[in-house]
Amino acid sequence: MAIFLTGIQNTGIPHLGNILGALLPAIQKSNYHNDIHLLCIADLHTLTVNKNTMQNEQYTWAIAAACLALGLNGKKVIFYRQSRVPEVCELAWYLSCFTPFPMMANAHAFKEKSSYKADVNIGLFTYPILMAADILLYQADKVIVGKDQKQHLEITRDIILKVNQHYNTNLALPEPVFQRNITLLGTDGKKMSKSYGNTIDIFASEKILYKKIMSIVTDSTPLADPKDYTSCNVFALHKLLASKDESVALQQKYLQGNYGYGQAKKALYTLIMEKFSQERKVFNNYIQNPQSMLTYLKQGEQQANNLAQKNIKKLRKIILGV
Ligand code: ADP
Ligand code: TRP
Repeated sequence: MAIFLTGIQNTGIPHLGNILGALLPAIQKSNYHNDIHLLCIADLHTLTVNKNTMQNEQYTWAIAAACLALGLNGKKVIFYRQSRVPEVCELAWYLSCFTPFPMMANAHAFKEKSSYKADVNIGLFTYPILMAADILLYQADKVIVGKDQKQHLEITRDIILKVNQHYNTNLALPEPVFQRNITLLGTDGKKMSKSYGNTIDIFASEKILYKKIMSIVTDSTPLADPKDYTSCNVFALHKLLASKDESVALQQKYLQGNYGYGQAKKALYTLIMEKFSQERKVFNNYIQNPQSMLTYLKQGEQQANNLAQKNIKKLRKIILGV
């Protein structure tokens, strides 16, 4: 039986890019496989970029509510807040003593973030070591990540290899499982991202969602003319959610002319509202009654703690000899 792990930072309410690119594929895998699945809300990683306690807590609830609303089975998946299993910090220290400085200095996520962030803290630098500790603490075999995390997985494997070489152990090297290779574009045509303020937030109020969709940038082809659906982001987003027939029907409307981008945007809005109506309801229910989410998290944290205790003892024995 394999152990699968995935992690998500509580840095915002999940948007359509996070949902289609990362959350839904991971949740579907966790329902399908008979293996052990862990889903970590990486709130210690979030501290590297946000130290607003209230906001971090709010986003933790938002992530938990979104995962449950999108079909996470809270009874099956070990769903936990990273900070509730503090042994991960102890392990991160051990691993940091096996991490060559130049390897970290080469990490491109750090290079990228440190090039524009005002708060370039050491946590941001050692972020991949904490991620390696997340993985080793649960002896995860498979780690579900986006392609942007590829280098972090390589770092994890290199660190574990160093521990193995030094102590002549055979701690398992985790394999990455890459999520769907899609990148959704935001309202301005750039990669959809919280950092750019261009997200489509399916859990937002109807009014905000409608306004956001109506603001998607399109070209200036006149209403009467046929439109190029292949270069239109409204069409691309619609296609990701629609059935084949619905998408072909929209394609026809683009080609025949006398169909404006405003109409296409309304079609996209209607589709999102239909597609996620149940998820929106469940999400809001959880946000209004966080107690039921807490029950799932507490159960998950109990299980995560049990696994962590077992593994940290084994690792202390290897590293400290006690
Ligand atoms: P953001 O850029 O909004 O801050 P994160 O970096 O927190 O998003 O990403 C969380 C997960 O969502 C990652 O696995 C990432 O690959 C995925 N993801 C983020 N934005 C997109 C997007 N525009 N399209 C597809 N997947 C995305
Ligand atoms: N670094 C990951 C991201 O930003 C989140 C994460 C933290 C993670 N710990 C993890 C992912 C452990 C997989 C396994 O997307």
